[in-house]
Amino acid sequence: MILEKDSIKLLQKALDKLEDGFELPEIDCKIDYEKVESVMMRVAEKMQNNYPYFHPLFAGQMLKPPHPIARAAYMLAMWINPNNHAMDGSKASSPMEKEVVADLAKMFGLKQHLGHLTGGGTMANLEGLWVAGQIHPKKLIVASDQSHYTHERITGVLKLNFEKVKTDRFSRMNLEDLEEKLKKGNVGTVVCTMGSTGTGAVDPLDEILELQKKYHFRIHADAAYGGYFGLVENLDQSTMDKFSLLNQVDSIVIDPHKQGLQPYGCGCILFNDPSVASYYLHDSPYTYYTSDELHLGEISLECSRAGASAVGLWATHQMLPPVKGGEFSKDLGRSRNAALKLYDRLQKSEQLFPLMKPETDIVVYALTGKDTNEMSEKANQVFKIAEENHLYLSLYKYPTSLFDNPEFEINSEYLTCLRSCLLKPEHDDWLDEIWSRLENSTKNVG
Ligand SMILES: Cc1ncc(COP(=O)(O)O)c(C=O)c1O
Repeated sequence: MILEKDSIKLLQKALDKLEDGFELPEIDCKIDYEKVESVMMRVAEKMQNNYPYFHPLFAGQMLKPPHPIARAAYMLAMWINPNNHAMDGSKASSPMEKEVVADLAKMFGLKQHLGHLTGGGTMANLEGLWVAGQIHPKKLIVASDQSHYTHERITGVLKLNFEKVKTDRFSRMNLEDLEEKLKKGNVGTVVCTMGSTGTGAVDPLDEILELQKKYHFRIHADAAYGGYFGLVENLDQSTMDKFSLLNQVDSIVIDPHKQGLQPYGCGCILFNDPSVASYYLHDSPYTYYTSDELHLGEISLECSRAGASAVGLWATHQMLPPVKGGEFSKDLGRSRNAALKLYDRLQKSEQLFPLMKPETDIVVYALTGKDTNEMSEKANQVFKIAEENHLYLSLYKYPTSLFDNPEFEINSEYLTCLRSCLLKPEHDDWLDEIWSRLENSTKNVG
């Protein structure tokens, strides 16, 4: 079995229970099941044309299957299709959203919070930067040149001034360059990436907080990818220390649909000052009338939002609470372990070498060669050969201006590297197999 299917039986059972909760006359569902079957078989055939994202041999991009509990609970909610905009569209699922958002705020150690789920990290960052722009309308927003491209794009949409800060060779924000910008006195917000998309690097939040004392700016933490790593015990101490400071930032983005075992469509924005709710204030004559309780649409830029996302996350938190020492955090630790194992093998290899020690669970590595052009060409070849060997990797362009290995001549702007996001806990058990396929794929390259 390569696809988990047993949870379907539980979904059927839960559906029967759900139906029991509604005392209503029966509806004659006029569905042409023969047609449904024929279309579904075509859908399944079309979906075969995917990389096997769910499998540990998919060791490339940031893709991870939802946990069966998240998938089943999300599907169960689909029979109701609640809309977490206003309470009347989501009587059950809006309170579930408030609970899971509070769980996430607690995970970061926030004493108070305002927040909600979003369609994903992009929307969550948009809200974080929109509030930052409301507070400092004329000031600059800065983010590292390894931050997600969304920050530059979002600030463009919001018509806010944006500048990039240089990074060091570990893909972390360069503090000297940041301070140069801060000295000019017009920085309103620093975006601190807590787990970069490319390499999983964590910006130096400890030192950024020190600079904040002198230069007074907001800090928005983009922890879309790395947010859950604060629960993990096998990071380097310096990285754990940075995650432990997230309770001191102004806003945080985390994506349960990345490391949090959720189907896509589940991001989250958290503010540590609930009074920012005032920026969201709007009137809606057709909603917000059935309850005096907070309607999530009153504090969210998106109007309709999938209540099913909240249901999936709520069910997951019941089974796998996001707390230190729990099963969820241990699984995340296994991903980290897989990254450390791969790093160790790369260090001992003659043909491959790691670009840096992974800070979370993303490993970036290159092939040896006479110069960076040849090394990039080799990486492209291995990427293709590995795929033929059913090992799925990804590529990453590293700026050679940061490359400090004197062994190799630099003759290109970027060095193309191989990249593995080892975010499935099973990667830990599969590392030998991944390594053997990787070595086989590099054998005849050159
Ligand atoms: C650090 C970071 N921020 C933001 C995003 C954008 O999130 P989404 O793809 O959920 O919109 C990503 C996506 O990879 C990310 O890694």
